[in-house]
Amino acid sequence: MIPKDVIDEIFATARIEEVIGEFVQLKRSGSSMKGLSPFVKEKTPSFMVSPSKGIFKDFSSGKGGNVVSFLMEHEAMSYPEALRWLADKYKIEIPEDKATPEEIAQRNERESLFLINKFALQYFEDSMWEDNMGRAVGLSYFKERGFTEDTMRKFQLGYCLEKGEALHDAAKKAGYNLEHLVKLGLIKKNDRGYFDFFRGRVMFPIHNLTGRVVGFGGRTLRNDKKIAKYFNSPESEIYNKSKVLYGLYQSKSGVVREDNCLLVEGYTDVISMHQNGVDNVVASSGTALTEDQIRLINRYTQNITILFDGDAAGIKASFRGIDMILEQGMNVRIVLFPDGDDPDSYARAHSEDEIRSFIGSNAKDFISFKTDILLQEANNDPIKKAKLIKEIVESIALIPDQITRSVYLKECSDRFEMEEQSLAFELSKIRNKKFNENLRQEDRLPEPIAPVKVQPKEPVAPTGHFQERDIIRLLLNFGTETLHVEWEDEDGETQSEDTTVAAYIIEQIESDKLSLSPGPLGDIYEVFCQSNEKGEVPGVEHFYAHQDPAISSLSVDLCTSLYHLSDNWWEMHKIETKSENDNLQDSILSAVFAFKMLKLDMLISHSQEKLKGEISDEDMIALLTEQKQYIAARKALAGIMNRTILR
Ligand code: CTP
Ligand code: MN
Repeated sequence: MIPKDVIDEIFATARIEEVIGEFVQLKRSGSSMKGLSPFVKEKTPSFMVSPSKGIFKDFSSGKGGNVVSFLMEHEAMSYPEALRWLADKYKIEIPEDKATPEEIAQRNERESLFLINKFALQYFEDSMWEDNMGRAVGLSYFKERGFTEDTMRKFQLGYCLEKGEALHDAAKKAGYNLEHLVKLGLIKKNDRGYFDFFRGRVMFPIHNLTGRVVGFGGRTLRNDKKIAKYFNSPESEIYNKSKVLYGLYQSKSGVVREDNCLLVEGYTDVISMHQNGVDNVVASSGTALTEDQIRLINRYTQNITILFDGDAAGIKASFRGIDMILEQGMNVRIVLFPDGDDPDSYARAHSEDEIRSFIGSNAKDFISFKTDILLQEANNDPIKKAKLIKEIVESIALIPDQITRSVYLKECSDRFEMEEQSLAFELSKIRNKKFNENLRQEDRLPEPIAPVKVQPKEPVAPTGHFQERDIIRLLLNFGTETLHVEWEDEDGETQSEDTTVAAYIIEQIESDKLSLSPGPLGDIYEVFCQSNEKGEVPGVEHFYAHQDPAISSLSVDLCTSLYHLSDNWWEMHKIETKSENDNLQDSILSAVFAFKMLKLDMLISHSQEKLKGEISDEDMIALLTEQKQYIAARKALAGIMNRTILR
């Protein structure tokens, strides 16, 4: 738990334009900043950030909110993750109450390992860009491969000089602990002393999700089959290979935007694809895909497309990976590149559109993919064919969702001209067996599998009824405005009073003992009511900066969605708001009436529901009376609203 006062400090310190600026290129435009939407691919900027209001609004996707909601939306962080990220950025200390001395020591050790990798990264980059040898060897190599300078900077590529211990000497001079360098695999010891492990190799740093370097891959420049093409950093306290995907740091926003993650084999595949605009791609770096890596992708999208070399020997080995993806309830598609091509060479020879349309039209679902591969082997041998069908049904059995399972089962039965019935029977046999095994396993393995956080991908449906939204919209936009109200008292005298819009609306709703539905709308209303009791009206900034991301996003939505994008949108907003301001009385009256109608309708249908159930005569009479009152009230209201109702 992060203490409340620390959360307050984080919110007060974080500058939205600085934070978003780390992910989106923003340009000043009047009093606000704008840039290309990080959620939708677009050519004209429709993403606005208002530093003074502390909010962002993306007109392409409709998303909006404050700095925390941005991190949650864009980086798929949880609420505490977003707070910790901000605390880290702004050097705000979060007291960790439960940390033991060992944990603190371990944390410090991890921190020093990160710092050394950062040092090494800088060193490799400098060696490639500044050093004569480095430029002649390392930089030329990447240039020859067609990588642009921008690409090299984006992936922070570098070079480890050929002379045996340059990194070692520099690190020693800078005072770093050499044992730590050994641990990170940057230097090694032989009988003549320390030497640089990656000497003479071009360097690919491997980043974690926050962009810190956890390890390196170093490619030899020699064409010698006897030398390993790549050297890779060993696992360490900061590098758990099964939990890292190469390129995810650079690709995560692309993955969110495309709602799909392309999976390739190597470093160079990722980089070439990026260079050609395909930026939703990660690599498993030559090893088999792990469950943790799949879960990592699942934070950003439900869809994985695996891209294979034409001559990939590992295709059959990939079946396990496909099954793991299915098992996590995700969708998997597979693309085979034409013989002799891999994503790297293909990307270099084609445009982004060509690559994407190639992938789009060649992606197969796992059934077609497995069938195509295995059917060749089966050669019409019925026994082999039966085995193949069984194997596919086994994959289908892994899918957690029942409807998805039956869709695939249907496809399988079509494809093999098999009766769906018998496939379904096989499927349930497998699932029962698995279920029993799981039961037995649970005795042995008490630790439950960590739940996977799934991001909502579609724009969230508007909260609540539009009548309720409209009430809150008026409160947020005009709550503090003054309203001149006139009415006739019992003696027929005209009375008048100046009040605030907020006070008037609340009075209208309270006098009929109505309320808003629970949820963020109701929460906002509640805040207005509480302030109203003290004779105050909260400003909209209070809700923009609200620590509940649902409230922040909703308030941004309600204060912006009416208006269309324009170059000086915030200014436009003021003008349009002003024009509604001229008819404010009308807007408020019709919003309040519409809201009351809605509530009455809800009450009426509620009592009708109750009448359908088994109730005593007394209750029935009470309900009927109640209902009659509601209907009368609605009629009266409708009269005022000058609307006829049928019934
Ligand atoms: N790999 C490795 N060690 C090796 C060979 C490969 O770790 N000896 C990993 C690397 O992560 C590499 C990936 O497997 O990126 C794919 O291997 P490969 O296709 O051989 O390398 P590329 O990165 O495609 O390199 P290049 O295009 O230069 O051949
Ligand atoms: Mn390759």
